[in-house]
Amino acid sequence: MADVLSPPAAPPKRGSGKAMITPQRIARRVRELGREISGTYQDIDQPLVIVVILKGAAVFASDLLRALSIPAELEFVRASSYGAGTASSGRVKFAHLVEGPLTARHVLLVEDIVDSGRTINVILKKLRRQRPASIRLASLLDRPARREVPTHIDFTGFVIPDRFVIGYGLDYAGLYRELPGIYSLG
Ligand code: IMP
Ligand code: MG
Repeated sequence: MADVLSPPAAPPKRGSGKAMITPQRIARRVRELGREISGTYQDIDQPLVIVVILKGAAVFASDLLRALSIPAELEFVRASSYGAGTASSGRVKFAHLVEGPLTARHVLLVEDIVDSGRTINVILKKLRRQRPASIRLASLLDRPARREVPTHIDFTGFVIPDRFVIGYGLDYAGLYRELPGIYSLG
């Protein structure tokens, strides 16, 4: 019998099955976001601080970073919900926080998916205490169907239906992050 941590019986394999979002669509959208973000920050007088939310956003962030035409620094936050499964438990703990102070810096948070909105809002609250000059949010995916905390996403890759997704950094029980496209689970 499968528990919540075991992989699904028929996991999608590289290059098989039908992607919800193909690698080509992702690449095109990431280039657009790179241009949009570079335009938004073109007049700031200091490098942008990209804050990647580990682990899920690592793949998106590394492509997005290379789509920028402005100077940017890279920082990481490791936040995780307690417990596992496909629904966020709502409690968040921090295993790593940005190294440098964000005071007076322009900060762009990079997330893989905003679901209930709980994780990102806890992180935003924590980082705002450092008094950045500005703080914006880029999320590869937005799944508004399950939103509990109203969340403004400044740069959205794709709005998706109410399905759990994997690939391009997103995992199920730690697996499938390496898939180049985004797949719906079940
Ligand atoms: P939230 O706190 O409910 O908004 O959940 C956001 C976090 O849960 C994301 O940063 C992801 O790590 C994870 N998550 C939510 N939905 C999915 C999904 O469909 N696939 C993989 N991870 C997900
Ligand atoms: Mg995440």
